[in-house]
Amino acid sequence: MNNDLIKIKSEAEGEIRAAKTTADLERVRILYLGREQGKITGILRALKNTSAEERVRVGSFANALRSEVDRLLQQRMAELKKGTMGSALKEEWIDVTRPGARKPKGTIHPITQVRNNVEKIFATMGFSVVEGPEVETEWYNFDALNIPADHPARDMWDTFWLKQPENQKSEILNPKQTQNSKLKTQKLLLRTHTSPVQVRYMEKNNPPIRIIAPGRAYRYEATDASHDFQFNQLEGLMVDKKITIANFKAVMEEFFKRFFSVGTTIRLRPSFFPFVEPGFEIDISCIVCAGHGCSVCKRTGWLELAGAGMVHPNVFKHAGYNPKDVSGFAFGMGLERIAMMKYKIPDIRLFNSGDVRFLKQF
Ligand code: PHE
Repeated sequence: MNNDLIKIKSEAEGEIRAAKTTADLERVRILYLGREQGKITGILRALKNTSAEERVRVGSFANALRSEVDRLLQQRMAELKKGTMGSALKEEWIDVTRPGARKPKGTIHPITQVRNNVEKIFATMGFSVVEGPEVETEWYNFDALNIPADHPARDMWDTFWLKQPENQKSEILNPKQTQNSKLKTQKLLLRTHTSPVQVRYMEKNNPPIRIIAPGRAYRYEATDASHDFQFNQLEGLMVDKKITIANFKAVMEEFFKRFFSVGTTIRLRPSFFPFVEPGFEIDISCIVCAGHGCSVCKRTGWLELAGAGMVHPNVFKHAGYNPKDVSGFAFGMGLERIAMMKYKIPDIRLFNSGDVRFLKQF
C-alpha cells in the first residue's frame, strides 16, 4: 500500500507541474482528489476494510498526501493564473501615442448643399419652406394649374404615369374633385414640376403667402449634359394684395446676388406657361463659359434658370381664392442648373452618377 502511495505521489507531482492551463490542472485534480474516481480518495475509502493498525499507518500517510497534492494544485493554479494575466497584458498593450486610423467620412451631396443654401437665403426674405408629394394626381399636376387634358402644353410634360389600384382611386382625390365625375378617372404620375405645391398650399392657407417648395421632379426625357429625367426644382410663390413683377425682380436679383456671390447678368424673356399670365423665363449669363458658349449653355452664352410669371386667375380660382382680391408671382427653378453654375459642373448626369471622385470635391 505504501509503495502505491509513493508512486501516486510522484505521478501527481509530475502531472501538476506539466499542467499548462487551468483546465489541465482541473483534470489532474479530479484524477487524484475527485470524489468518485480520485486515486487518493479511492485509497482512503478502501481503509474501511483494513485492520485498525493498517488504517492508522496508511491513513495518516494518505491524508498527508492528500493535503500535499491539494497544496501543489493550489500553487500551480496561482502560477497559471498569473501567467495568463501576464500574457493578457502583453496582448492588450496599446501604444496610446500612435496616430489613429481615420474613418472615411462622407460629404454632403452638392444638391443638398445648394438646397440648404437656397433655403437659408429665401428664409431671410421671409419665405417658409414647404413640401408636396412626388407621386401626384393629374389634377394637381395639370388641371388645377390650368392645363386641361387636351391642352398642347401637356406634351411638354408627357411623363411617367403610374398604375393605380381601382379601390384607391377615390381616396386620393380631394372632395371638390369627387363631385366632378370626369375627374374620378384621373391618373397618378410622378410630378413633372413642383408647381402643384402652389395649389396644395393655397387650398390650406390664406394670403399673404411667401413660400418656397424644393423637391424632386421627373420627366420623360432623353438625357444630355443639361437634362436628366430626374431633377430637383425649387418652386417659389408670393401672394398678397398687390404683388407685381417689380416684387418678383427684386426678390430674384437679391437671391442671385447672394447665391452666386458675384454679379451675373439676368434677363427676363417672355414665355408661356398655362398657369401664369404674363409668363417669362429667367436666364443668367453662363458661368461655366462666361457667356462665350459651351456644351452646358448649348453655345448660347445664356442658361435658362427658371420659369416664372404672375399667377393665373384660374389657378387662384382652383385653389379657392377670388382672383380679384389677390395677385402673386410664382417661379420654378432647376436646382441642378444653379449648382452646375456655382460649381462649374459640365454635366448634369454627374449628380446621380454615384462617382465618389465627383462627390468628394464638395
Ligand atoms: N413649373 C414650370 C416648369 O417646370 C416652371 C414654372 C413655375 C413656371 C412657376 C412659371 C411659374 O417648367
